Amino acid sequence: MGNKNSIAALIVAAGKGERFGAMLPKQYQPLLGRAVLRWSIDTLCAHPDIDNVYVVIHPDHTEMYREAAEGAPLTHPIIGGETRQESVRLGLEAISNRGGADFVLIHDAARPGLSPQLVTRICAALETSNAIVPALPVTDTVRRDTRGQTMTENREGLYTIQTPQAFHFGTILGLHRRYRDRTLTDDAALCEIDGLAVKFVDGDKGNFKVTHEDDLAAMEQKIMTRLGDMRTGKGYDVHRLIPPRHDLDRLKIGGIEIPHDKVLEGHSDADVGLHAVTDALLGTICDGDIGMHFSPKDARWKNADSTQFLRHAAMLVAQQGGVISHVDLTIICEAPKIGPHRDKMRARISEILQLPVSRVSVKATTTEGLGFTGRGEGIVAEAMATVRLPFDTRAASSGEEQILKWGT
Ligand code: CTP
Ligand code: MG
Repeated sequence: MGNKNSIAALIVAAGKGERFGAMLPKQYQPLLGRAVLRWSIDTLCAHPDIDNVYVVIHPDHTEMYREAAEGAPLTHPIIGGETRQESVRLGLEAISNRGGADFVLIHDAARPGLSPQLVTRICAALETSNAIVPALPVTDTVRRDTRGQTMTENREGLYTIQTPQAFHFGTILGLHRRYRDRTLTDDAALCEIDGLAVKFVDGDKGNFKVTHEDDLAAMEQKIMTRLGDMRTGKGYDVHRLIPPRHDLDRLKIGGIEIPHDKVLEGHSDADVGLHAVTDALLGTICDGDIGMHFSPKDARWKNADSTQFLRHAAMLVAQQGGVISHVDLTIICEAPKIGPHRDKMRARISEILQLPVSRVSVKATTTEGLGFTGRGEGIVAEAMATVRLPFDTRAASSGEEQILKWGT
């Protein structure tokens, strides 16, 4: 967005999922390694146009929510109501109490197939309209059943409507307050009552709502197909080992401190392991290297915690709609011994990347006393990352822009 308007996202997840009919509510069902709800959380939290993400949950689901949302940059959840409409209203009231926003995107947790591209389209449309809905033209023939008599309807001009729906914040809050007694299935319907124009943007077939149990398998297929662009990135880093200069100097590798009589020298905290993983991730999205994003000449990164570099790279992957499936880090040194710290490193990296530990590998080797690592002059780290990205022409063209930027 060209202006400085703030845009909040409100995810409603307070339903019981009765039509889905499982013990575990549909928004907490596992979908390719994450809860259904978590897909929307991650897409919206990573999106550069969205400033804050809020989630409305059922009062009985707090424990499931805590697990599903662990590590995501969210404020505490909002408790919803009996109906979707009530949950949205309570969500808007809570946002208003927590600082408000200029605009709000209201999204169903039951639509985990939300793509960053759709969020971009909606936010762009907010520049010229106060109410936006994603719409898809009806392509099937539609028949209406009136007491057993069926008749083909004219599908011309008929659309199905999805979420997120986006609104001027004060306007939609006002409408929800004013019409709290009317029963409506979505938020744009409130605008209709008040005669407010609603603008359409193209919806997305993959953004369908998980309603019945077989929708989940279909969603899984949809996401798998969308993330068909498998990328592998490699990272390599070296830092020199030196005696500590201050009492507080610590050796950091793989996001943890390791007791040792030497430390690594560098502009940042010199965490050679996290630097290699960061570069491997940047490699998967062809987005330069760590030095380009965090220049060693920039005073901001003096003694910086390298955790933020890795988080940033993971966010760039998420912004492209990508999912990290695996990282593999190898530390090459004679000392300290890495083995005793391996599990702690895996746990720390999995925490930073929001990945299960089973998707993070840490290995170590010596060079049998040979070369600079063998002489204890420095430590080498190598990493590989595997990422699944959408096959997307837009991502390909932004790659071209990148090349132009580098060329000048
Ligand atoms: N929702 C909500 N509060 C409610 C009811 C629904 O926040 N009281 C949310 C759901 O969690 C869902 C979205 O609104 O993300 C769309 O509702 P729907 O698909 O109907 O979900 P459920 O109401 O949970 O399912 P069902 O109607 O089958 O019980
Ligand atoms: Mg419902």
